[in-house]
Amino acid sequence: MEHNPLSRLIVISNRVSAPQPEQPAAQGGLAVALTAALRESDGIWFGWSGDIGARHDLHFETYGGVTSGTIDLSEQDIEEYYNGYANRTLWPLFHYRLDLTEFERTFQGGYERVNEAFARIIAPHIDADDLVWVHDYHMIPLGWLLRQQGLANRMGFFLHIPWPPTRLLVALPDHRRLVEALFAYDVIGFQAEEWLESFRHYVTHEMGGTLGPDDTLTVGGRTIRAIACPIGIDAQDFIASAASATARDVQQRMRESGTGRGLIVGVDRLDYSKGLAERFLGYERFLDEHPDRHARVYLLQIAPPSRSDVETYQNIRDSLDQLSGRINGAHADIDWVPIRYVNRGYPREALAGVYRAARIGLVTPLRDGMNLVAKEYVAAQDPADPGVLILSRFAGAAEQLTNALLINPYSADDISDAIDKALSMPKEERIARWRPMFENVRDHDVVWWRKRFTEALEAV
Ligand code: ADP
Ligand code: F6P
Repeated sequence: MEHNPLSRLIVISNRVSAPQPEQPAAQGGLAVALTAALRESDGIWFGWSGDIGARHDLHFETYGGVTSGTIDLSEQDIEEYYNGYANRTLWPLFHYRLDLTEFERTFQGGYERVNEAFARIIAPHIDADDLVWVHDYHMIPLGWLLRQQGLANRMGFFLHIPWPPTRLLVALPDHRRLVEALFAYDVIGFQAEEWLESFRHYVTHEMGGTLGPDDTLTVGGRTIRAIACPIGIDAQDFIASAASATARDVQQRMRESGTGRGLIVGVDRLDYSKGLAERFLGYERFLDEHPDRHARVYLLQIAPPSRSDVETYQNIRDSLDQLSGRINGAHADIDWVPIRYVNRGYPREALAGVYRAARIGLVTPLRDGMNLVAKEYVAAQDPADPGVLILSRFAGAAEQLTNALLINPYSADDISDAIDKALSMPKEERIARWRPMFENVRDHDVVWWRKRFTEALEAV
């Protein structure tokens, strides 16, 4: 990976997943992407330690070439900032789930308080020439708060999740304050053109902003660049993982335990945005409509728990337990369980083996900023005999992986038809669909993404 000797990179995000001795595989798109991106940088990755404690201490640690600077948060901070404003207000709203969005003044207060603390604690460690790159919805106002601390650095912000349509965003109390804070950055990146368009719409319709050349937006005399910059995976590493001995062992295990049946795989954090219930219902529709196919398939859904202190996440766990139990109860046979539902994490090489063993990658989020699982599935396939990717048209990844079977994840019929089509797809068509997707994943990897964003920032 290329390192720019002129500017040190400072990354700031809520979760810091810099390499640790014996750390299990990183989970979450941001974690996986930035670990790869910082490996050969001299930069520092700042964020929350994940621990409860007095928030004033900054702990530095260097491992695997990446220095991290982390801060503990109090229980109240975590409740109001992380569980509250980030995950009960912004996350559902930005994923188009106004019905699940909670508006509490204390959440907003906690969010601003924690962002202010981060700005105050981190600012003294940033040199004048550093490039500052802030990530995701937990930290939207951080750039503005760092400017309040006197920083004149080039600062960028990347949003890993969708940007919602204006008509949804205006339901957020103080929505304008949040968006105005984004104008403290020099460059803002979005995962997909669709999210960028929604952002531009808000700026031009709600703030009286104007569009300029080179992706610029101007509001009240302040001009920033807003770009679409889709994140990629560490493609080479993933391709190598899929060919590793561990991956081959896992493939063999899947073959033996699958007793000749074709594997359909889903891999997602347990999150309502991932469309897991709808996926199970689509698969159930397929089983109902194609009894002759029962002998040919099974679904493996890997779904590690996520944000379990938030009630909506507990609810999804309960409803999926019930749904998988009901479907298995109705269809299972003495030697066949239609859904294997697993709630744990796996090392990357094992995951790559599972992807490679799967005839179908079933990726059906109701709304997703990007979705890296879709890209990992493509990267892990055997070029001579690839599987079929079924992908939600509402994932950012659908703008790039246009040769997937693109479906509407709300429609059980669509999912069922796509499974049917994928199972009967001739090898020539599978290869013809897979190859351009593979080239896209390989060429637009995490290094490409990092360079595209940091070059835009360097150019300021
Ligand atoms: P999100 O960022 O919303 O979690 P993405 O699909 O973009 O969704 O990224 C998820 C990442 O987490 C992928 O890199 C995927 O491999 C990883 N992941 C998801 N589930 C597991 C699991 N059970 N074990 C290991 N890694 C997982
Ligand atoms: O990709 C979106 C994201 O929210 C990341 O910011 C985050 O690291 C990941 O999903 C997992 O979520 P969490 O950090 O809340 O466990």
